[in-house]
Amino acid sequence: MDGRNIVLIGFMGSGKTTIGRKLAAKLDYRFVDMDIEIENKAGMKITEIFSKYGEPEFRKMESRICEELSKAKNCVIATGGGVIKNDKNMKLLKENGVVLYIKATPEHVYRNIKNDTTRPLLQCDDKLAKIKELMEERKPLYESKNDITFDVSGLNAKEAVERIMSVVEGDSIL
Ligand code: S3P
Repeated sequence: MDGRNIVLIGFMGSGKTTIGRKLAAKLDYRFVDMDIEIENKAGMKITEIFSKYGEPEFRKMESRICEELSKAKNCVIATGGGVIKNDKNMKLLKENGVVLYIKATPEHVYRNIKNDTTRPLLQCDDKLAKIKELMEERKPLYESKNDITFDVSGLNAKEAVERIMSVVEGDSIL
């Protein structure tokens, strides 16, 4: 193995963190959650970053982490759902990474995050409608920025990881 990272992209609540953690354990890779990296650096939670400094500042922090992670090796990286909005982020992450799109229906996402309060972009009365709207807007980006797509709708994390592992091992993509 040449140390390529596995970079998980996909909408909020599609399961990138849970899947990524399990995948890293199976591959004996380090697991990195970009949101946690941002929170650790900033010394505050994502919600606080958004409310104090706004989304543009959060995006700058996100891009700085992408730069750092472009030099990482043997990591499974769970990105934040909006990382694909900046093309430079994706170029950096692809420098040493294979990009897997964790695809899920709005209903699957909604089931996972209906009671979540940590995602500032989804704090509204009609969460399902907001998920549908944002997902539609971002779909072309998720679809064009990945190397391999995994539709995990209706699968639990264990099943999703098994599916990913069979491709990762079978196609020797790392
Ligand atoms: C965001 C997704 C979140 C987090 C932030 C913004 C987005 O990460 O980075 O709330 O724009 O989609 P998750 O995808 O891990 O929820």
